[in-house]
Amino acid sequence: GRCAVIIVAAGSGQRLGHGMPKARVPLGGATMLAHAVQGVVAAGVAAQICIAVPAGDDAMVELCHQVAARSGAGPEMRWSVVDGGADRAASVRAALELVDARVSTVLVHDAARPLTPTGVFDRVVAALRDGAKAVIPALAVADTIKTVVPAELPATGAGVERVSGTPVRNRLRAVQTPQGFDVDTLRRAHAHAQTLDADAAAQITDDAMLVEAIGEDVYVVQGSTHSLKITTPLDLLLAEAMLQGPLR
Ligand code: CTP
Ligand code: MG
Repeated sequence: GRCAVIIVAAGSGQRLGHGMPKARVPLGGATMLAHAVQGVVAAGVAAQICIAVPAGDDAMVELCHQVAARSGAGPEMRWSVVDGGADRAASVRAALELVDARVSTVLVHDAARPLTPTGVFDRVVAALRDGAKAVIPALAVADTIKTVVPAELPATGAGVERVSGTPVRNRLRAVQTPQGFDVDTLRRAHAHAQTLDADAAAQITDDAMLVEAIGEDVYVVQGSTHSLKITTPLDLLLAEAMLQGPLR
């Protein structure tokens, strides 16, 4: 069946601190959005590309048109640009509205992951083809991860955190995008998300957790260190180096 790729680019890029959405931030002589779109087109999996941009951001709409024109995608590619929402899930939902009726699978990808290799797209699409209704790319974690709760130091009462648990590291995965879904499953998951209260909604960090919440199995394929999310200036520095150095 046909596959649509949603690229969410409607965030404000607060933590990167460039005073503009990350999608417009330069990387290796292009914009992050150009790299992300290039990766999607190069993977050759999409019949449609929907980009969610900050509502009312004309410069981003213009950038989308430029990037589409220079992407090397054929004339049969369907492009859509849509106003994103207040949080990532709302941006995905807005883009989902524009997904073509003939589409059977959807990949949701962060514009903030400009260097995702083709192999990651291939592995996600292959798992969908093999019957998964939800697929995420992920990597083993290097750091030990702990859960914490608010606490006070015994003598001073100074506000700190205290460890509440240590999940076994070899069962933990750091999750990336593109995340792939059967379109009906993704629509049901996002319909469910709209029933959540504000506190629960604020804890949504990816689409897969919404699919988990409706009881569908989410399968995991190998991600890539190259698929890092550009969140802070250090990430951008690393991405610049990756484009120049022997890693790439
Ligand atoms: N995103 C979105 N709509 C939102 C918030 C985020 O489309 N309302 C997108 C971002 O554009 C990004 C991806 O979701 O591609 C991951 O979000 P994140 O890395 O947090 O990006 P920003 O929200 O832009 O960054 P920050 O949180 O530092 O402001
Ligand atoms: Mg954010």
